[in-house]
Amino acid sequence: MSKHAAANWNTNLETGDSHVDLQHQELFQLVTSLDTAIRDQDMKQIEDIILFLEHYVVDHFGAEEGIMKDANFEGYDYHKAEHEMFEEMVLDMRRLFDSSPSRTHLIFSIRKFIDRLVIHIRTVDIRIADIVHSLDHDTAESS
Ligand SMILES: [Fe+2]
Ligand SMILES: [Fe+2]
Repeated sequence: MSKHAAANWNTNLETGDSHVDLQHQELFQLVTSLDTAIRDQDMKQIEDIILFLEHYVVDHFGAEEGIMKDANFEGYDYHKAEHEMFEEMVLDMRRLFDSSPSRTHLIFSIRKFIDRLVIHIRTVDIRIADIVHSLDHDTAESS
């Protein structure tokens, strides 16, 4: 088991949107990838993680923002602002990697990113469950 308490996925974190939930599980799996990269002292693996995150913030945040927009969700602005903060963190990671790839700093910034995003999943993304449940309810009523 990972030393990181945050590394554990559990069903309490489910939003009910299978696409979003799968992407959240992928984020949790990244903790294992990072541990492996640290163990192997492999900068290529660290760059792969950064590349993964560069795509992740586009695809995953885009998916969540689409769900919220479609539902006219009142918490959209706050949620979107948090996403923008994470996008900035990934840009910083890339700048750090390209300028002076210090393994220690990169590992620290990736860990910080994952830890914060796990908190975001627990406290902010979980509200997407309300949207998904109300959509399920509407569908059930109209059928
Ligand atoms: Fe999310
Ligand atoms: Fe989110």
